[in-house]
Amino acid sequence: MWVLGAWVLLSAAGAGSAQLLFSPTTFVERNICNESVLLPCIVTNLQANNKKVMYVKWKIQGKLFFSFDGTRQAVRDSMFSSAKLVSESDLSKGVASILLDKEEAILGNYSCEVTESNREGETTVELKNSTVVSCSDENTTPEEKYGSWFLPVESACIIVLLFLAIIFCWAQLSVIASKFETVFQKKISIIIACGIFTVVAVVGVILFVPDGYTRGSRAGLGLIVVPAVILMPIQCLLFGMVMDSLSKTAYALISLESVGYIIAVAGFALCVSACPVLHGSVVIAGLAIMAIGALLSLVYVCFVGSRIREHQPPRKAVEEPLNDAKGVMLERCVTKEKN
Ligand SMILES: *[C@@H]1O[C@H](CO)[C@@H](O)[C@H](O)[C@H]1NC(C)=O
Ligand SMILES: *[C@@H]1O[C@H](CO)[C@@H](O)[C@H](O)[C@H]1NC(C)=O
Ligand SMILES: *[C@@H]1O[C@H](CO)[C@@H](O)[C@H](O)[C@H]1NC(C)=O
Repeated sequence: MWVLGAWVLLSAAGAGSAQLLFSPTTFVERNICNESVLLPCIVTNLQANNKKVMYVKWKIQGKLFFSFDGTRQAVRDSMFSSAKLVSESDLSKGVASILLDKEEAILGNYSCEVTESNREGETTVELKNSTVVSCSDENTTPEEKYGSWFLPVESACIIVLLFLAIIFCWAQLSVIASKFETVFQKKISIIIACGIFTVVAVVGVILFVPDGYTRGSRAGLGLIVVPAVILMPIQCLLFGMVMDSLSKTAYALISLESVGYIIAVAGFALCVSACPVLHGSVVIAGLAIMAIGALLSLVYVCFVGSRIREHQPPRKAVEEPLNDAKGVMLERCVTKEKN
């Protein structure tokens, strides 16, 4: 009998302190830029400050998916294999918040149950999609409301400009192939270079297009921008096929493309670490300059081609020495690019 009496007395005395209290957060929002989601759960009145006497349980809509017994390992549901405490060492300070990969973080009500020896408490936090619109506009679609890394129009500009640069490359190649008889071997190397440029760009676009700030889309943007450096040696080789020594105009056009490339890479560096993107226009400007450079080069190649046509010397006699000279020029050109 006295045991029951003591228990009633004890629970009456402890009623005020048996409950763990939490810093109140009713909901958190995630947007497209969140790679992981932090679900906060912070106890404010721990007494022992010892994680060995603590037990944490996280539930989604009432279903347990993560538990952490201070003395042992965390146990997690296979659907939430990424779940982990924000910091195990901070658990003793009351931080029972967890991190989830964005793929696993389903929207809904999460409850966090913490026990410290014989005291316990529970708090609930709702995970919602962000309703914040960066470029506030009544006409935005739900997808744009949710936010995106690049705006659709920016992505479109990037892809179109990249393919314009590639198309102008192939166009130069076909103009040259139709107007100049060059050693097949050299044409092959340019065709391979143009082909690599095209394939890498297509892979980059495929990775880049699904919007979202994912590793894949960042790698895609990288594949769009960085390998475009190949445009400069390609341009060098193309000019080398139509003239014995690179003219000032040819150097100017290659420089223009190089400047565009440097701007595009700088833009990529600014974009890759920022979500949402603030400097998408830098990448676009860089690619635009490269595309313009390639277009002007195409015009120039056509121009040189037509001039050579008019004053074409007897071909058979000069072909061999000319080709040798071109070979030397090409090598020089390529080594210059490498340096
Ligand atoms: C998502 O990211 C934003 C800013 O980067 C951050 O304020 C927010 O707490 C994150 N949301 C979640 C649920 O982690
Ligand atoms: C989460 O709980 C809140 C408040 O109880 C409720 O309004 C909301 O609809 C719940 N959300 C989900 C996804 O069940
Ligand atoms: C939240 O955003 C995700 C990602 O785009 C989307 O798939 C999902 O339908 C959205 N959910 C709600 C309830 O808006």
